[in-house]
Amino acid sequence: MNITVIGTGYVGLVTGTCLSDYGNKVTCIDIDKSKIKSLKSGILTIYEPGLEIIFKKNVSNGNLSFANKINHKINESEIIFLALPTPPNEDGSADLKHVLNVAKNLSEIINSYKIIINKSTVPIGTTKKISNIFKKNSKINIDVISNPEFLREGVAVKDFMNPERIIVGTQSKKAIKIVSQLYQPFSKKGTKIYFMNEESAELTKYAANSFLATKISFINEISQICDLTDADIDKVKLGLSSDSRIGKKFLNAGIGYGGSCLPKDVKALISYTNNINYDFKILKSVEKINELQKVHIISKIQNFFNNDINGKHFGIWGLSFKPETDDIREAPSLEIIKNLLELNSEITAYDPVASPSIKKILGNKISYSGGPYEMLDKIDALIICTEWDEFKNINIKKVKTKLKSKTIFDGRNIFDTKLMSINQFKYISIGRKIK
Ligand code: UDX
Repeated sequence: MNITVIGTGYVGLVTGTCLSDYGNKVTCIDIDKSKIKSLKSGILTIYEPGLEIIFKKNVSNGNLSFANKINHKINESEIIFLALPTPPNEDGSADLKHVLNVAKNLSEIINSYKIIINKSTVPIGTTKKISNIFKKNSKINIDVISNPEFLREGVAVKDFMNPERIIVGTQSKKAIKIVSQLYQPFSKKGTKIYFMNEESAELTKYAANSFLATKISFINEISQICDLTDADIDKVKLGLSSDSRIGKKFLNAGIGYGGSCLPKDVKALISYTNNINYDFKILKSVEKINELQKVHIISKIQNFFNNDINGKHFGIWGLSFKPETDDIREAPSLEIIKNLLELNSEITAYDPVASPSIKKILGNKISYSGGPYEMLDKIDALIICTEWDEFKNINIKKVKTKLKSKTIFDGRNIFDTKLMSINQFKYISIGRKIK
């Protein structure tokens, strides 16, 4: 099929690249000239495992190309994906200006039947809103459908290629036929495609991310109870997650969820429900708990140092909001660094890939280390903010020798408490105590 993808962020670039790998002719469009320049010269604009290899393959075989502008060439495509940002407004609601502007632009250019597939996370009713823009500006019959994306950063290619389900919001028989054909490589492998009305598809995306956020805030509250008692979060999680109704995933206690989706979508659903006069009580608490969880580790650090961390030097391992990505949006590390700087401490940070992203925001307010060990002999304590494999597989003997203070605050519970005890670390983690 001939496909255009508008927006080359995580979702757009992964969608376009993966669909080109299935033999489709894909053009990815973005107004950001530097992004397109980079992509055209063969350099990816995001770090995503597995993406580079299929990107290079499909650029060289001509299946994948890039452009800066939406013009009449778009009429060669049968399917147009919208993968545009929907950032939060001040009140948390989703800002739809990019989506609606592009829809207007398209409605003035399109001259034959197309399917417009919206991948962006949007409030209930947006697909119909986009459809109305086309009805108002054009006589051409088109179908606008909602097809929310569930891929996770860091495993985006794997998620796109092996989706657990595909959600399609449309009531058009013609669109159902074409979309079924588009996603046939996935349905052939056993992935279920759920067709529903547009509004249900839109709400499914918000509900999924809100539920995941709820699981995280729930387990984080349980970890607080563990901190106050002799219960151990690892043991509680084991018992809890062996109930198949509860499941094993998204039950890792830590320093809270971050990223570009969970925080934004939770805020957007709260704002949306406020506007329709529904008080979404659980979700409001989920958000509040997450904000508190990000800084709870600061009180643990303060307690440990008897409220005197003025001038103390902290090392940070991990800056990205989760491993396998350079994305620092809403990363708990940022909140922790901000709080420590306000308390006049000094910070040296290391991340396998995200240091340049943090440098753009914090510049020389903190120092940066070229590796995990280099900083250790200078610091009063180490704080772990992201569970990269590089840290999980660290040479603990080397850490023991270099880290004179022997003090570790582990915000992601990556080390075994017994191992820490044997090696005489002062080890403070989440919902667990060293024996
Ligand atoms: C999420 C959804 O998972 C994905 O389906 C959607 O399309 C986009 O939003 P993503 O933001 O890439 O994906 O990251 P995810 O892996 O879901 O992690 C989100 C945050 O939750 C991270 O900060 C992570 O550290 C945190 N988390 C996750 C926990 O604190 N505990 C857990 O058990 C799981």
